[in-house]
Amino acid sequence: MTQYRSRILGLGAYVPPRVVTNHDLAKIMETNHDWIVERTGIEERRWVDEGEGGAEMAAKASTEALAKAGLEAKDVDLIVYATLSPDHNFPGSAVFTQRLLGLKEIPCLDIRQQCTGFIYGLSIADAFVRTGQYKHVLVIGSEVHSTGLDMTTRGRDVTVLFGDGAGAAVVGRATDDDHVILSTHLHADGSEAEILWTDKPASRAHPRITAEDLEAGRHYPHMEGRKVFKHAVTRIPQAIMEGMVANGLKLDDIDMVIPHQANLRINQMVAKMIGLPDTRMHNNIHKYGNTTAASIPICMHEAIELGKIQPGNLVCLVAFGAGLTWGSVFLRY
Ligand code: UT7
Repeated sequence: MTQYRSRILGLGAYVPPRVVTNHDLAKIMETNHDWIVERTGIEERRWVDEGEGGAEMAAKASTEALAKAGLEAKDVDLIVYATLSPDHNFPGSAVFTQRLLGLKEIPCLDIRQQCTGFIYGLSIADAFVRTGQYKHVLVIGSEVHSTGLDMTTRGRDVTVLFGDGAGAAVVGRATDDDHVILSTHLHADGSEAEILWTDKPASRAHPRITAEDLEAGRHYPHMEGRKVFKHAVTRIPQAIMEGMVANGLKLDDIDMVIPHQANLRINQMVAKMIGLPDTRMHNNIHKYGNTTAASIPICMHEAIELGKIQPGNLVCLVAFGAGLTWGSVFLRY
C-alpha cells in the first residue's frame, strides 16, 4: 500500500483593518495600557466591523494560502475549519467558506479544540494526506471574539486578551524529506474544562439561556487565569519535548518555535524553561492579541514573510488552550 507524507504547501493570513489599542479599551473599562503590556505583552488587537464574519476572513486567508501553494480553490479536496466562535450555531463555518471560495460538494469538517484547533487541524490533514484519501486539505483557523466579549470592567481580565483574525494552510503531498510534516502530537484533559469556557447558551439547559444568565454574564468567556497559566507553562514544554523525542532531535536542531499567542509571559517562560534563545521563537501577540485557532498560522505566516523561517527549516508549532487541550506539530517547512 502506498504511504504518502504531507507538507505545508502554502500559508495565508488575514486580520480585519480596525485596530483597537489598549488605550481604546481603557476608555470603555477600568484597565490601562501598562497593566495589559506588563501581564500579557499585548499592545493592540484587531476587531471586525459589522458585516465581516469568521468565514469571510477565512476565505481571504485561504485565497492567499492557495496562491502561495500555486493552487486554485478547485484543487482543494477537504476543508478543516477550527474555531470556537462559529458564525452561527449550526451549520459549521466551513460550508460558508466553501461557498465563498466557489466550491461545491467537497467535504467540510468543523472542529473546535480552541487555541489548539490549528494543531488538531494539521494533524487531521496530515492523516488524510498520508492515507492518500485526499491530496490537498485546506486547514483554517478563524475567530471572531470581539462580538462575544464583556465590554465592561467585569470582563476586563478576558476582554483585553482577545483579537479577531484568520489563518489558513494548504496541506498536500510531500515529495522529499526537506519539506514534510514530521509528526503531530495531540492531547486533551477535560477534568478542569470549566476553568476556561463559556457556560451559556447550553443545550443541556432548559431553556438554553435565560434573562438571568444574560444579566450574570454567563454568555461571556470565563477564565481562571492563574490556573490556566500554570497548566500552559507545564503542557507547552511537554508538547515540545514529546516531538523532540519522537523525532530524535536536540533543541539546537529546531530553527523556529511558533507558539500559540495567549500571553507573551507564558511564551517567554517556556523558552527560558527549555533553554531556547529568543531568536528561535517568533511572537506577534503585541499586534493581534490572542486570536485562538488563528494565532499559529498568523504567526507562522509572519515569520515566513520576515524571512525568519526559510524553506527546509525545522519548525515546531505548539499550542495550549481551553478543554484543556494541547499539542505540537514538527515539520520541515
Ligand atoms: O489562550 C488560552 C489560554 N489562555 C491563557 O493561557 C491565559 C493564561 N492566564 C493569563 O495569561 C493571566 O492569568 C492573565 C493575563 C489573564 C491575568 O494575569 P494575572 O497576573 O494572572 O492577573 P490576575 O488575574 O491574578 O489579576 C491581578 C489583578 C487583580 O486585581 P487585585 O485582585 O489584585 O486587586 C485583577 O482584578 O489585576 C486585576 N486585573 C486587571 N487590572 C487592569 C485583571 N484584569 C485587569 C485588566 N486591567 N484588564
